[in-house]
Amino acid sequence: MLKGRHLIEPADLTVSEIDEICSLAEQMIVDPVSFQDVCRGKILATLFFEPSTRTRLSFEAAMLHLGGTVEGFADASYTSSTKGETLADTIRVVSSYVDVIAMRSPKEGAALLASKFSSVPVINAGDGGHSHPTQTLTDLVTIRALQGGFEGHTIGFCGDLKFGRTVHSLTQALSRYRNNKFVFISPEELRIPSYIEDLLKPAGIEFIEAERLEDVIGQLDILYMTRVQKERFFNEQDYIRLKDSYILNKDKMKLAKQDMIVLHPLPRVNEISPEVDDDPRAAYFKQVKYGMFARMALIAKLTGAI
Ligand code: NCD
Repeated sequence: MLKGRHLIEPADLTVSEIDEICSLAEQMIVDPVSFQDVCRGKILATLFFEPSTRTRLSFEAAMLHLGGTVEGFADASYTSSTKGETLADTIRVVSSYVDVIAMRSPKEGAALLASKFSSVPVINAGDGGHSHPTQTLTDLVTIRALQGGFEGHTIGFCGDLKFGRTVHSLTQALSRYRNNKFVFISPEELRIPSYIEDLLKPAGIEFIEAERLEDVIGQLDILYMTRVQKERFFNEQDYIRLKDSYILNKDKMKLAKQDMIVLHPLPRVNEISPEVDDDPRAAYFKQVKYGMFARMALIAKLTGAI
């Protein structure tokens, strides 16, 4: 039963609940009209304390497609947090107006904290470098649609694996399915955090680390590219040195399998050359569309509309 629950990280959902949400998203893709009124009278709040384009707008589009309405902010500088209001108080207030809250913060743990003070479900739309569970649902709906399921894949994550919350969340989710192998491709300074490796090791899940994309791209079924997370660096020089560590281009795509798919949570900076966009294996713009349906399914479940 998902009604009334919070979603802070992918592990908050069981494997069968993930299946339930993906199946509902698939039904919504096929027949969106049947769902256009299920959230009539319900309100989603989007509280974004950190910049966003896709995540906020896709949450809003999702609620509007379900017949609900939306209120919120995209820039916290116009809110009472600048007067010193605590997150706890903001959430107590907002949750008395709305039916569900989607919240993004630069601080790890902020969504969890918010959930302790909310009378309605809180959805983590990204908390610092920690987690981004609705991007994971987006990725899962995409993988199911394009690769048929979640088992038996070799998944390469490439780029900023240290700060990339989408990587942490998707690894956590895919590690629960059988026969997946992970290939973590990053510069030394941006390696996957040890707490993620500690999830994989005791479960006997195979993973390797690599520095060169060319060395491993030929093994992959899914290549998940990420941008270097500028806003989480303490030192601009380090960012400038590392930002173009990987650029996926046509030459590198020639080394990849014919049925590999390329995902990216977006925004892209330089890490995928636009010349790859026309390659049939480039799935990152399809992923955006799946993301809206994933969020529609999640909102419908958490609000008890379905
Ligand atoms: C990601 C994020 O915010 O973590 N973007 C998104 O939500 N689609 C990835 C990123 O910002 O690099």
